[in-house]
Amino acid sequence: MSPILSLTDVTLVHGDGEETVTALDKVSLEVSPGELVAIVGPSGSGKSSLLAVAGALTTPTSGTVRLADHDLGTSSPRELARIRRDQIGFVFQSGNLVPALTSYDQVRLPLTFGKVSDPRDPAELLAEVGMDHKAKRRPHELSGGERQRVGIARALVTRPHLLLVDEPTAALDRQRSQDIVGLLAREAHEHDVAAVMVTHDHDVLHHCDRVYEMIDGRLNAVATSTD
Ligand SMILES: Nc1ncnc2c1ncn2[C@@H]1O[C@H](COP(=O)(O)OP(=O)(O)OP(=O)(O)O)[C@@H](O)[C@H]1O
Ligand SMILES: [Mg+2]
Repeated sequence: MSPILSLTDVTLVHGDGEETVTALDKVSLEVSPGELVAIVGPSGSGKSSLLAVAGALTTPTSGTVRLADHDLGTSSPRELARIRRDQIGFVFQSGNLVPALTSYDQVRLPLTFGKVSDPRDPAELLAEVGMDHKAKRRPHELSGGERQRVGIARALVTRPHLLLVDEPTAALDRQRSQDIVGLLAREAHEHDVAAVMVTHDHDVLHHCDRVYEMIDGRLNAVATSTD
C-alpha cells in the first residue's frame, strides 16, 4: 500500500548563528494506512519535532514531507491549515480537553470548525473507545485514562488519514497504558489510519507494527520481537 506519510531527508535546525540545535538530522520515514509506528528515544532527541513536521505544524529546514498527494513544502498556509483540519488527528500527553465541555461535545468539536465531508458519529466513536457511559461528563469528572480515550475519539472524528500521538501514556498506570495503546493499534488497523506514536514506555511496544529510536535527531529502526 502506498504510504500516507513520507518524510525524505528531513532536517530541522532551530535557532541561527552560533546557537543552533539540530532537532532532526536527515530523517526519512514512511507510514502506510493501517499501521501504528512507535518512536522512542531520550528527552530532547527530536521526537516531538518529528511529529510537528509530520503534522504540518513546523516547516523543516530541508527535505520533503508528503502527506497523501500533497507536498507540504509547496502548499500554501491556507492549504496546510485545511490539510491539518481534514487529514490529521493529534493526541497529546494530557488529552488536552476543553474543561467546560462534555465528552460528547469534545468529540464533536472538530466538526464545528468547518465542513467535514464524511465525519464519524461522535456517539458511536465514544462507544468504540468505551466512553459512551460518560458522554455527559466533563474532564474533571474523568480519570487520566478516560480523558485520553476521549482525546483519541476527538482526534478520529474527522476520519483523518494520519494520527499523531505524543506520549499518550505518560500520566497513566501500567494497565491503562496497555489499554490506550491497544486502542490506538485497533483504530489504526480497523480504520486504515496511519498512526505515529511517541512514547517512553517500552512495555507498550508489542502493540506497535514498527519501532524506531530517535537519538540526537537521527532516526533508526529497532528490531522488534516479531521481526
Ligand atoms: N522551538 C524551538 N526552538 C529552539 N529549540 C527547540 C525548539 N523546539 C525544540 N527545540 C530543541 O530541539 C531539540 C528536540 O526537541 P523535541 O521537543 O523534539 O525533543 P523530544 O524528543 O520530544 O523530547 P521529550 O522526550 O523531552 O519530549 C531539543 O534540544 C529542544 O530543546
Ligand atoms: Mg517531546
